[in-house]
Amino acid sequence: MNILLLGSGGREHAFAWKMIQSPLCDTLFVAPGNAGTAPIATNVNMSPTDFDAIKIFVIEEKVEMVVVGPEDPLVKGIYDFFLNDDKLSHIPVIGPSKIGAQLEGSKEFAKEFLVKHNIPTAGYDSFTAETVEKGCDFLETLKPPYVLKADGLAAGKGVLIIHDLAEAKEELRNMLVNKKFGAASSKVVIEEFLDGIELSCFVLTDGKNYKILPTAKDYKRIGEGDTGLNTGGMGAVSPVPYVDAVLMEKIETRIVKPTIDGFQKDGIPYKGFVFIGLINVNNEPIVIEYNVRMGDPETEVVIPRLKTDLVELFLAVANEKLDEITLEIDQRSATTVMLVSGGYPEEFEKGKVISGLENISDSIVFHAGTKLNGNEVVTNGGRVLAVTSYGDDFQEAIKKSYQNIEKLHFDKMNFRKDIGNDLL
Ligand code: AMP
Ligand code: GLY
Repeated sequence: MNILLLGSGGREHAFAWKMIQSPLCDTLFVAPGNAGTAPIATNVNMSPTDFDAIKIFVIEEKVEMVVVGPEDPLVKGIYDFFLNDDKLSHIPVIGPSKIGAQLEGSKEFAKEFLVKHNIPTAGYDSFTAETVEKGCDFLETLKPPYVLKADGLAAGKGVLIIHDLAEAKEELRNMLVNKKFGAASSKVVIEEFLDGIELSCFVLTDGKNYKILPTAKDYKRIGEGDTGLNTGGMGAVSPVPYVDAVLMEKIETRIVKPTIDGFQKDGIPYKGFVFIGLINVNNEPIVIEYNVRMGDPETEVVIPRLKTDLVELFLAVANEKLDEITLEIDQRSATTVMLVSGGYPEEFEKGKVISGLENISDSIVFHAGTKLNGNEVVTNGGRVLAVTSYGDDFQEAIKKSYQNIEKLHFDKMNFRKDIGNDLL
């Protein structure tokens, strides 16, 4: 089978690494891909949101399945684009429909879905520029800190947590009236603050049946000890040691099952990943967000622990036969550490030559922001490489990642040295 994978990050390199291990995969195309996918698949210089170019390519190259990595093409409706085109409708797209992708594309839509299906979530209300004063009144009824969320996609920057009431009101006006996050903040969800430990649950669904994938925790802040600015993620660990069977059972019965049943009840076509962000408040899991894709860098620890053929899983998703598959999970731990460009998540330079890749044997280096420049691999983004290792426990795995990072180099390379320390 010829498969097209959309995206260019560490998540997509990890998907590609796993998919080419499948006997079901003949040619794997990655658009646009990176220097890590180049030697194992065929990179195609095409934007994941250029649906017309994708259509021409898919027909010419006889692509039989499209796997979508990032949220953008999903929110823009790539699933429906294929379904509604006579020449494409027979080609399965792994990812939700446009309406399903609104679970990530609109915080308000997600909250309405959660409330409608009685899934535990923080109390909230939503406001627009017309109702900004009502929003300020609502803030007065809440206890600090105050959680303000831009309704639309804001590249992971749209959530503000503010301790001071006056400042929260000012930021609310900034978002709604001054369009701090552009159109994404033309609506703002104000949410009750939840105090607890965050964790993520990853689910693959065919719209009726589902499989819960291994748990993972990511490290969002740039600085050690969870300080400094938010990033896309600086490292990850799977499994999360404090998630026991009792908590997992609650997550499944109160959150995962009602979510998938909700797709059925609401007639939402959904064949893809659901990434559920949770906060565990006194052993009660509460949803803070949905994403309609896998996490990055969580994929770089979840996928290496999956023993089941990923293409077989995707085919089962397409054919609504996920119930016929048994997931096999590697019992070892996996950890990943992100090597980032100096300055990230703010200003950084690109084009730095990466050396030492050929010296790594007992870790897997997934490429994120890299590209080929002649024979050299150079940096091409903020997050550059994810160094993933296995171990009998996460301590052993993380030690291996850090040992191998010593062998890698690029100018102004930065990484967190405390991944997993909070779990000790
Ligand atoms: P989100 O983009 O929804 O994942 O939010 C970004 C971050 O804000 C999350 O990873 C949490 O750390 C935090 N957050 C979001 N919602 C809440 C909430 N209701 N209570 C406490 N923290 C929250
Ligand atoms: N690592 C968090 C995310 O992918 O959204």
